[in-house]
Amino acid sequence: MSYNLLKGKRGIIFGALDENSIAWKTAERVHEEGGTFVLTNAPIAMRMGQIRTLAEQTGSEIIPADATNEEDLNNLVTKSMEILGGKLDFVLHSIGMSVNVRKGRAYTDEKYDFTTKGWDVSALSFHKVMQSLYKEDAMNEWGSIIALTYMAAQRVFPDYNDMADNKAYLESVARSFGYFYGKEKKVRVNTISQSPTPTTAGQGVKGFGGFISYAEKMSPLGNATAADCADYTISLFSDLTKKVTMQNLFHDGGFSNTGVSQEVIEKFS
Ligand SMILES: NC(=O)c1ccc[n+]([C@@H]2O[C@H](COP(=O)([O-])OP(=O)(O)OC[C@H]3O[C@@H](n4cnc5c(N)ncnc54)[C@H](O)[C@@H]3O)[C@@H](O)[C@H]2O)c1
Repeated sequence: MSYNLLKGKRGIIFGALDENSIAWKTAERVHEEGGTFVLTNAPIAMRMGQIRTLAEQTGSEIIPADATNEEDLNNLVTKSMEILGGKLDFVLHSIGMSVNVRKGRAYTDEKYDFTTKGWDVSALSFHKVMQSLYKEDAMNEWGSIIALTYMAAQRVFPDYNDMADNKAYLESVARSFGYFYGKEKKVRVNTISQSPTPTTAGQGVKGFGGFISYAEKMSPLGNATAADCADYTISLFSDLTKKVTMQNLFHDGGFSNTGVSQEVIEKFS
C-alpha cells in the first residue's frame, strides 16, 4: 500500500546488489511512496549487473561509487543533485563487508590489513558519506540519513567477527555526526539495527542458517524481513519522524529485549 509519504523527496540509496538486498527492497518502497533517487554501489557490484533492473523498474539513474573513496563520493553527491534537480532529503547507507569473515579468519586470528579494509568499507564510509554531504551542503532541512547495523555492536555473537566492532563504530558515528548535522542543518541521523536477513552479506556469516532460526524463535514477533526493514526506513525518511535523531533503533521483532522464549526453553527441557 502507498501513502505518498515521500512525494517530492529526493535521495541516494547505497548498497542494492540483488533483489534480496535490504537496499533493493527499500528502493522499491521509496519509489512506491513517490520519492526519487540515484542508486549507487561499488564499481565491482556494477559488473554483477542486477542493479540495472532496479534502475529501470524505479526510473532511477546509477552512479558507481566506492564508498571508501572521497572523490567518488563528492562526484556522487554533486551529480545526484544535478540529476534530481535539487538538494537531498534522504540517504540510505546499506553497506557492509568484512575481509576477515570472507577469508575465514577467526576473531582471535585477524589479519589487520583485512580488518582495516573491512572497517573502512563498513564503518568509516558512513562518516565519509556524511562529510561529503555536509561539506557540499547537499541535504535539505529535516532530511534523514540512515545506516544499517546489527546487535552484535552491543552483545557478543562469536561468528559475527570483526563486523561487531565495525557496527559499534558505525553507531557511534551516527550519534556524533547526528549532533553536528542536527545543530547546524536540522538533519536527522539514525541507525536501524535489523534482524538477521538472508542476503549476500548476511549469508556470508558462518552458521547463518542456525542463527536466523534461533533469532526467529527468540523474537516474539518473529524476525523482521528485508521488506519490513524497507517499510520502517520509509517511516524514518518521512516527515512523521522529524525529531528522531542520534538513535540506534532496534528493528528485530523484539529479539533485543528477550532474555529467553518459551520455544527455546522447550528445546532444552
Ligand atoms: N543481512 C543481515 O543479516 C543484516 C542484519 C543487520 C544489518 N545488516 C546490514 O545491512 C546492510 C546491507 O546489507 P544486506 O544484508 O542488504 O547485504 P547485501 O550484500 O545485499 O548488501 C551489502 C552491499 O554493500 C556493498 N558494498 C560493499 N563494499 C562496498 C564499497 N566499497 N562501496 C560501496 N558499496 C559497497 C555491496 O556491493 C552490497 O550492495 C549492511 O550494512 C549489513 O551489515 C544486514
